[in-house]
Amino acid sequence: MAPRRKLAAGNWKMNGLSANLSEVEALMAAHPAPGCDVLLCPPATLLHRLAQTCAGHALAAGGQDCHAAGNGAHTGDTSAEMLLEAGAAYVILGHSERRADHGESNAEVRAKSVAAIEAGLAAVICVGETLAERESTRTLEVIREQLAGSLPGQISGDTVVVAYEPVWAIGSGLTPTLEQIAEVHDFIRAELSRGFGEDAGDAVRLLYGGSVKPSNASEIFAVSNVDGALVGGASLKAADFSAIITALEAA
Ligand code: PGA
Repeated sequence: MAPRRKLAAGNWKMNGLSANLSEVEALMAAHPAPGCDVLLCPPATLLHRLAQTCAGHALAAGGQDCHAAGNGAHTGDTSAEMLLEAGAAYVILGHSERRADHGESNAEVRAKSVAAIEAGLAAVICVGETLAERESTRTLEVIREQLAGSLPGQISGDTVVVAYEPVWAIGSGLTPTLEQIAEVHDFIRAELSRGFGEDAGDAVRLLYGGSVKPSNASEIFAVSNVDGALVGGASLKAADFSAIITALEAA
């Protein structure tokens, strides 16, 4: 079994204008040949330019969402093929902000993931419990339901990445304990192996996301079954994201 290649993924959310491409240039200069996979997911308006900026460098570009349909009357939406043509290699799907702000269900996330993979993108599928769910000790049950409902029928290390993002840890500065992260990541690994077979379950990369920053990255990357991070706020500044990449390279 080939070792899983680690992945540092940045989610810029609704942040970033052309001036912010200088952060991408600084990041590439700091990591001319990164020792892990590096992905940046800018807003759709910057995707093509960011992909052009990264041309010839290992840094990959990704979208933050796509529609499940290939084309059609869906004002404001973007298809997976459009993201691919703009230069994306990945797309984040089912982020808790999409689930909360746009009412995305597990079934919709699954349909999007099927469309993304068919178009040739790798799907970064997000799962995670709310604070109320954690406090009522429903975390693993919620994660199991989200995995069962959101993942496509087939998965592989090339087509799917799973990001565990506790909703209460996103943008809050709060993080679960390392034991809590280990418990959920080990659980996700076991669920994937149970549902998709050991080879596929073992090949899929599991990212932790939620208030990852330079000061906590190393300890999180040392946790079992953590293959990288999905980073929001700290991916906007090259210096911060660079420190996280360096921590992942060393893990
Ligand atoms: P954060 O966001 O790193 O700003 O907490 C993570 C995410 O939502 O992907």
